[in-house]
Amino acid sequence: MEEVRLQKFLANSGVASRRKCEELILEGKVSVNGKVVNELGTKINPSVDKVEFCGKLIHSSEKKVYILLNKPIGYVTTAKDQFDRDSVLDLVKVKERIVPVGRLDMYTSGALILTNDGDFVYKVTHPKHEITKTYTVTLRGIIEDDAVEKLRNGVEIEDYITRPAKVRILKTDIEKNISRLEITIHEGKNRQVRKMCEAVGSKVIALHRSKIGDIGVKDLKLGTWRYLRDFEVKNILWIVTDKIIETKEKWRRNKWVYLISFQKDGKMKK
Ligand code: URA
Repeated sequence: MEEVRLQKFLANSGVASRRKCEELILEGKVSVNGKVVNELGTKINPSVDKVEFCGKLIHSSEKKVYILLNKPIGYVTTAKDQFDRDSVLDLVKVKERIVPVGRLDMYTSGALILTNDGDFVYKVTHPKHEITKTYTVTLRGIIEDDAVEKLRNGVEIEDYITRPAKVRILKTDIEKNISRLEITIHEGKNRQVRKMCEAVGSKVIALHRSKIGDIGVKDLKLGTWRYLRDFEVKNILWIVTDKIIETKEKWRRNKWVYLISFQKDGKMKK
């Protein structure tokens, strides 16, 4: 993930000239992720860092791009790390500073969106509004009906009960001793699908994310990518924004129920 000097980012975003932006930084008028920065060496990542000038959010002037990659296994979804493992960013060479929206394990293949739109990343990955993700899971052994039912209803992974999931048996092969399931979830806990399957005693031997929301990768070869179409981006934003509004509305209603249930002396009504 390419970083850029703070003064360059401010200048490119039209705040002032590079020299003037340096002065503004030294005067303590610029903050990054809520903290005032008054050193000139600071570098930021415009896709994820929130830069404010005099309290006003500065948007990068870079054109927003949204990319759908069919990730092969063997690639990490972080930038190159200390182990020098291959990164998905090596597969998508664009001039914009993109980041993956959420993550996929190194040994999981399939749909991954990358963008330079920090707001999109925030909305789509927010735990309350996560969009559905559909996985094809190959398991060692023949899965039992009650294990499928448990996966559907929610299982305990570490100290968390997973939310209801859609689970469909795609195939069972007695000779090869494998089962293939389609699992749709709308959470994004670390290694969630693998942990869910482990929780019902099944070992995952292959994991592929076939879809994010309605957007699938069946027409993209592994390792290739395409730009998302406008309507696809809008559709995703529409879904998550709708959920945000729904959550806000629920909170607003609950707040009134909560306030109404207080008596004048401040004690809760029984
Ligand atoms: N669940 C997993 O176990 N791994 C992923 O990469 C995504 C979901």
